[in-house]
Amino acid sequence: MIPQSFIQDLLNRVDIVDVVGRYVPLKKGGANFMGLCPFHNEKSPSFTVSPTKQFYHCFGCGAHGTAISFLIEYSGLGFVDAVKDLAQGVGMTVPDNDDKIPPAQRAEYQAKSLALSDVMTRACDFYRQQLRAAPPAIDYLKGRGLTGEIAARFGLGYSPDEWDSLRGVFPDYDIEALVEAGLVIDKSDDNGAHRKRYDRFRHRVMFPIRNTKGQVIGFGGRVMDGGEPKYLNSPETPLFQKGSELYGLFEARQAIREAGYALVTEGYMDVVALAQLGFPQAVATLGTACTPIHVQKLLRQTDQVIFSFDGDKAGRRAARRALEACLPHASDNKVIRFLFLPTEHDPDSYVREMGADAFEQQIQEAMPLSQFLLKEVIGESDLSTPEGRARVQFDAKPMLQALPPSGLRLQIVRSLAGVTQSTPGEIEALFDLAKPIARVKVAPPKSKRMAPVGLERQIIRLLVAHPRLGAELDDDALRAVAHLAPDQAQMLKQLVDAIRDMGEQASFASLVEHLREAGDGFDTMIAEIAAETESEFELVQIEMSSAVRQCKIRAVDEELQRLASTNLGNEELRNRYRELSQYKEMLKRG
Ligand code: UTP
Ligand code: MN
Repeated sequence: MIPQSFIQDLLNRVDIVDVVGRYVPLKKGGANFMGLCPFHNEKSPSFTVSPTKQFYHCFGCGAHGTAISFLIEYSGLGFVDAVKDLAQGVGMTVPDNDDKIPPAQRAEYQAKSLALSDVMTRACDFYRQQLRAAPPAIDYLKGRGLTGEIAARFGLGYSPDEWDSLRGVFPDYDIEALVEAGLVIDKSDDNGAHRKRYDRFRHRVMFPIRNTKGQVIGFGGRVMDGGEPKYLNSPETPLFQKGSELYGLFEARQAIREAGYALVTEGYMDVVALAQLGFPQAVATLGTACTPIHVQKLLRQTDQVIFSFDGDKAGRRAARRALEACLPHASDNKVIRFLFLPTEHDPDSYVREMGADAFEQQIQEAMPLSQFLLKEVIGESDLSTPEGRARVQFDAKPMLQALPPSGLRLQIVRSLAGVTQSTPGEIEALFDLAKPIARVKVAPPKSKRMAPVGLERQIIRLLVAHPRLGAELDDDALRAVAHLAPDQAQMLKQLVDAIRDMGEQASFASLVEHLREAGDGFDTMIAEIAAETESEFELVQIEMSSAVRQCKIRAVDEELQRLASTNLGNEELRNRYRELSQYKEMLKRG
């Protein structure tokens, strides 16, 4: 957990205009900055960044948030990584509350990954530079239809045909970091003595693998003749885990956004060739099966993922693994589809032979997850026999259990019930589906808490937009709201507490981050505020004090009515009535 106070400091320190401006060209327009929204496809700018609110908002698609959410949405980083990234940019160090790792060890670990990252960058630069001086490698790439532009975009390189060419970049060729980065291999002789060190990659075309931030974390190296192995990959290192990295994701981000989907292939060359042939939205798993982490990473970038597999047995198996990896992340607003190419083809060869239009057609016709799932579970079973139908249900059980409860799961349950001559209820009972969707109310409310209305809402809303107004709220005001609207009083209390915690530096953006967890009921308000043009603080102050005053007057009125209904039978009640009447007059005068 990163302390809230740190997030607040950070948001006060970074400027969202800089952060967004690094990725999206922005122009000044009035009080705000404008640009083309990076989250949906548009021709005229409806994306605004407000330096005052330190918030972005798109009038086209409704995307909005702080500098932190921008990084999360834009580059697919997790919350912690986004915070770290921003912090680094302004010279702040994220305090780590994780006391399981002793600080010394953590510092050592950080120093190590920094050293590894540095080594990888230098090696990558070296390989790129070597490519220019290696006609056979250039010819190989040309022979595969790639232009220099695409090669440069993917940072392709060449590792020379020598045992220790990296010695040229690292005169201290014996350093530990080179082994840890997987760039060299240490070999000892039979007695375990006399270490001999040599370059892992020799005489290969080099494909640098980058993380979502663009840092080089590994390499794939392809032989140029029929040698073995065809591709040599970096081993797993502290920087590089195959199960969570996707080749080409960094390069494809913008294209994925524009296309509205990510295309997942199986090979390095597929990604690079597809980019060359008009499909820059392609990425690839790294010679491993697709994992749920891969899927999650992709679904952070886009709502639609299309997998492309070879039509052969291995492709089918890979598709099955991908299907399983997708199940935990399938939901009603995400689309996952599978396309199967003819047996002899991969995407690269298919487009070259059949043309881009034919491939585009394949993409259009890709099979939706629900259909693929049913096809898989039906398999060869004979649906005309009870045994066959039971077998289908047996095979479907783990898959349906892996699907989170959703409309999609319900639809699949229905289809499965259809083909196995059962009812959706029977399937749900048989499969122990924890929350049978069929019986859950449609669109359950997000929270029990109602979105507040009226005066109280106005006060809460002003406070969210301008936390500094918290100073205008005295206990009387809080009591008045509590009296009039107990539900909203709780929300107001939560807000006032948060603002008091945050102190003088409280701002809309940091409050939004603060409410990220407790957000129910605040979401709509935040979206509204993001879309508003800003007003002068003095005007807002006036609006606030008048809302508070009216609230108090209403609360007093209610109390007066209640007292009056007792017929004011004794002196105490009469005194109270008089006092309140005077208070009300005072409030009315302002
Ligand atoms: P393929 O054998 O399908 O190769 O391996 P490809 O991607 O079509 O490559 P080209 O077109 O022949 O150049 C698919 C992926 O499997 C991994 C790589 O990630 C490769 O891109 N692989 C394959 C290896 O890691 N090592 C190998 O020896 C072969
Ligand atoms: Mn290929």
